[in-house]
Amino acid sequence: MMMMMRLQFSLALFLITFSCVSFESNANDQQHLEGFLSCLQKKSSKDNTLISTIIYTPKNTSFKSALDFYIQNTKFFAPETPKPVAILTPETESQIQSAIFCGKKHGLEMRIRSGGHDFEGNSYVSQVPFFVLDMFNFRSISVNVESKTAWIGAGATLGETYYGIYDKAKTLAFPGGYCPTVGIGGFISGGGYGALTREFGLAADNVVDARIIDANGRILDRESMGEDLFWAIRGGIGSNFGVILSYKVKLVDVPEYVTAFNIVRTTEQNAAELIHKWQNVVSQLPLKLTLSLVIFSGVSPQTGKPTALVIFAGVYRDGGAEKLLQIMDDQFPELGLKKEDLLEMLWIQYFPFHMAQPFDKPKEFLTSRVPPFKFSFAGKSDFLHEPISVEGVEKILNKISELPPFNAQMEWTHFGGGIMDKFPESETPFPHRKTLIMLFESANWAPNDSSDVAETRKNWVKSLHNIVGEYVLHKNPRYAYANYRDYDLGINNPHGETTIEQAKKWGIPYFKDNFDRLVKVKNQVDPENFFRNEQSFPVFPAHSEL
Ligand SMILES: Cc1cc2nc3c(=O)[nH]c(=O)nc-3n(C[C@H](O)[C@H](O)[C@H](O)COP(=O)(O)OP(=O)(O)OC[C@H]3O[C@@H](n4cnc5c(N)ncnc54)[C@H](O)[C@@H]3O)c2cc1C
Ligand SMILES: *[C@@H]1O[C@H](CO)[C@@H](O)[C@H](O)[C@H]1NC(C)=O
Ligand SMILES: *[C@@H]1O[C@H](CO)[C@@H](O)[C@H](O)[C@H]1NC(C)=O
Repeated sequence: MMMMMRLQFSLALFLITFSCVSFESNANDQQHLEGFLSCLQKKSSKDNTLISTIIYTPKNTSFKSALDFYIQNTKFFAPETPKPVAILTPETESQIQSAIFCGKKHGLEMRIRSGGHDFEGNSYVSQVPFFVLDMFNFRSISVNVESKTAWIGAGATLGETYYGIYDKAKTLAFPGGYCPTVGIGGFISGGGYGALTREFGLAADNVVDARIIDANGRILDRESMGEDLFWAIRGGIGSNFGVILSYKVKLVDVPEYVTAFNIVRTTEQNAAELIHKWQNVVSQLPLKLTLSLVIFSGVSPQTGKPTALVIFAGVYRDGGAEKLLQIMDDQFPELGLKKEDLLEMLWIQYFPFHMAQPFDKPKEFLTSRVPPFKFSFAGKSDFLHEPISVEGVEKILNKISELPPFNAQMEWTHFGGGIMDKFPESETPFPHRKTLIMLFESANWAPNDSSDVAETRKNWVKSLHNIVGEYVLHKNPRYAYANYRDYDLGINNPHGETTIEQAKKWGIPYFKDNFDRLVKVKNQVDPENFFRNEQSFPVFPAHSEL
């Protein structure tokens, strides 16, 4: 019992942590920076706006806290991580236009940050001189209950979005992800999946309009940007094309109350057989039943030895406990789901519940911009097209049990049998529509762990990824999720041109055949390549043909 309580406690601690998981500039940077700053000052006096209050340079005492606040992976707190020469926190659209104008003029690259969850810190880390455009002030949410739509600012978090909608209509929802502090700007522009994906598609599939500022400082909406760019910013990552100001999304219907459960099974309780069975039944489950897996390294309550803790996390949105038990009894009796495992709760309470957090105050949970814990992590993705054998699952679980409790985490999310593959792969830039199950593989460590520990964990993720690689259908290239950015796939040259061939190394795994159209759109809307970063689409040399 004590063991179980401790297990529950640590589970809570780590579920939340994860489901969520002195600077000296050189002379050259200094030159870029001074030109850039005086350009901004000039622009702002013309506009009659006060710009100094939104500019942080390393000289400002609050520079570090401004930078660190939206760093969501503590490995990037390290002093050796290259820092921006400035951070801008615009409050008006004209300030963003000025930032683009002056950045271009003074050859200073821009990184755009909304929620700061990028796995590689793409929104706030670079080897070249750069400034951060931090979008957190652009977070208004305006819900239209009649038309079942909402305009959401790029800097809003998923949690703010969920609560903002719930506040206006208890039975409308946005099909987003699990972690409440993830930013809309990155999430939607990279695809965005979560508990409702199998029923309603990706977040990007539900976008009906958008506002963006392009490399020429023009403010565009769907009509004025045209269908190519509108297509590209629904999965092709916004920072390739411009600064996303907001998205207009369709809202989907959910019941006010749902039935939910989180039940844990260990290796000793036949977890491998259960996962095998789960893979074979998930595509037949009703669309209104989401049943995903969250797996941690842990200590077995049965034997006290290292194990894998497999959480079967379910949410049923179509009637109560009796009906759910009936479905599970028909489809998946091996799991042994019992009435006492089930809880009826408000839909909005499911987000904290999924993370094993107290769910009596969903508003506080969803609207807090400070995750309760932050730590360092490395993560990778995979797409399964067919179930992994029991032996394969055993290998994976054994690997997971190698790490200390809760330092290994995997998530298995089912797409199969839903609406994802009802559209062609070219519908949006996210091409992995025929997926049965999407996988997330990760390891984490504490901010104060030694660099040896960090190195070991990163290598451990690679070896888990190698094991999973034996079971994926497409091995060469092996596919990956653009929103789980992975620089191991390859990055662009920091200076000068990057060839199409080079960019395909990461571009094909993320986007498959959609890569070509994304490159074309990039060349149409940003031929001078102002919106460049470590994994941005290459532009053709000036003399070549489109
Ligand atoms: C703990 C955790 C949980 C996660 N859970 C899920 C999940 O359940 N489902 C899922 O699909 N993904 C999930 N992700 C991945 C997440 O969707 C991506 O990391 C996403 O890019 C984060 O968006 P952000 O705005 O928080 O990140 P940022 O780091 O701010 O941005 C990510 C990328 O988008 C660009 N970008 C951000 N804002 C803008 C803008 N306004 N205009 C143009 N470009 C912009 C950035 O420049 C960068 O390239 C998770 C990530 C973490 C760390
Ligand atoms: C940073 O310091 C400069 C110079 O002292 C000041 O003008 C500016 O307002 C400061 N920025 C912020 C955001 O406080
Ligand atoms: C890191 O910090 C935690 C919490 O403050 C502490 O318990 C732990 O011992 C520290 N670990 C190392 C390696 O310093």
